[in-house]
Amino acid sequence: MTQERHLEALTHPIFNTLSDCAEALGCEAYVIGGFVRDYLLERGSPKDIDVVVLGSGISLAKKLSEALPNSPEVTVFKNYGTAMLKYQDLVLEFVGARKESYTHDSRNPVVENGSLEDDQNRRDFTINALAIGLNKDNYGVLVDPFNGLDALKNKRIVTPLSPGITFSDDPLRMLRAIRFASQLNFTIDAEALEAITVQRDRISIISKERIVDEINKMMSSPMPILGFELMHKTGLLPLILPELSALEGIEEVEGQKHKDNFWHTLEVVDNISKNTENVWLRWAALLHDIGKAPTKRFDKKIGWTFHGHEFIGSKMVYKLFKRLHMPLNDKMKYVQKMVLMSSRPIVLAEDFVTDAAVRRLVFDAGEHVEDLMTLCEADITTKNPYKKKKYKNNFKIVRQKIEEVEARDHVRNFQPPVSGEEIMNTFGLKPSKEIGVIKEAIKEAILEGEIPNEYEAAYVFMLTKGKQLGLTKNT
Ligand code: CTP
Repeated sequence: MTQERHLEALTHPIFNTLSDCAEALGCEAYVIGGFVRDYLLERGSPKDIDVVVLGSGISLAKKLSEALPNSPEVTVFKNYGTAMLKYQDLVLEFVGARKESYTHDSRNPVVENGSLEDDQNRRDFTINALAIGLNKDNYGVLVDPFNGLDALKNKRIVTPLSPGITFSDDPLRMLRAIRFASQLNFTIDAEALEAITVQRDRISIISKERIVDEINKMMSSPMPILGFELMHKTGLLPLILPELSALEGIEEVEGQKHKDNFWHTLEVVDNISKNTENVWLRWAALLHDIGKAPTKRFDKKIGWTFHGHEFIGSKMVYKLFKRLHMPLNDKMKYVQKMVLMSSRPIVLAEDFVTDAAVRRLVFDAGEHVEDLMTLCEADITTKNPYKKKKYKNNFKIVRQKIEEVEARDHVRNFQPPVSGEEIMNTFGLKPSKEIGVIKEAIKEAILEGEIPNEYEAAYVFMLTKGKQLGLTKNT
């Protein structure tokens, strides 16, 4: 029987060269894993190419390097018996086929040479165990002993071995299963889902960096909500993001309930993901209400309150990023700022919108005002159609006003129209408190709309303010 050959997967000339090298060394080689999966899913042409070799992956990598122009450098990972080389925009990784077992308390495997099937068997999911032959006699032939193709067609995440073993071998795979389900909109096999639930605590041996990497991949997928729902369902979420799990539940006191802020949050993430691919804005949506758990109070007169939850939430963002070893850089500060300001436009949308309030919003949010509006619109999850319509309309007005105010007053990246130096020269002052007072008063007058954001007006205002402070103008 002639087998179908997937030659379209191997159109890049590197595969022909690889094939020649494998023949020259007399070893079998296969391209395997994500490259084959994504080719079959028609997800474009992946740049990461994993090659499994029956023999030495390091030798094949070296042979390929010699055959390529300028002999790209081969990086060898001796401990793992693997090698990597970069060629053009491709990253090729080479590994000898292995039969592996892992020690219980770490991800470091004990390695033995094995057959191709052994190697496929020890991979995470059947959709990632598909291999395509690279030798002359099987060039382009798909090798699929575990029905990975069926799993791809039926959109299922299935482990080649019993899931208990696959996840125990490498607990990161629990999150990978959820990430692939989220990225590809696949369903995790019931038995695998159960195994994740049972073994969830073993996620503790995985480094924070790897965990965050998976979460970020979930976050970048079209529907991150799928990933978070699965983390919640399997009990992984409280182990990774307890701040979110703490938002779950509805309390009732004296007949008054508050909304379930966990499910509300997931809805907000879902909403925002339809309007932005900015993964940090999605993070802000995920964390925008985390301050609500520690600030929740019941007041007999006004019911449930979450006073200051935005401020507390923004502090919690820092701690959360730190705990997860995420960079404490401008991205973290951006998320903090979004969380801190997350209620500002909503207040505007609920009330009559004044120019001054919009000007202050633009001033405080600066270059991120658009993102803040996107966040706040995603935050409208009310099921009351009247309220929903009203909020949406008001947001339209706020957006319009932002444009008008910005065109007129330019407060987005506010630069004081009169400098501190000019104030000093005008009143013959040395560096002193008065300068700050005058500068602040000018800024306030602009934000309140008392004067336009222009030099002339600000100069006259400065003179008046100086007079009030008992200062006299230099002649
Ligand atoms: N793999 C595995 N267990 C892991 C990680 C990886 O079995 N914990 C195997 C899978 O066969 C996977 C291959 O190694 O397909 C390559 O892994 P990686 O490059 O991390 O992922 P990809 O599957 O290529 O997917 P992506 O690039 O989306 O992360």
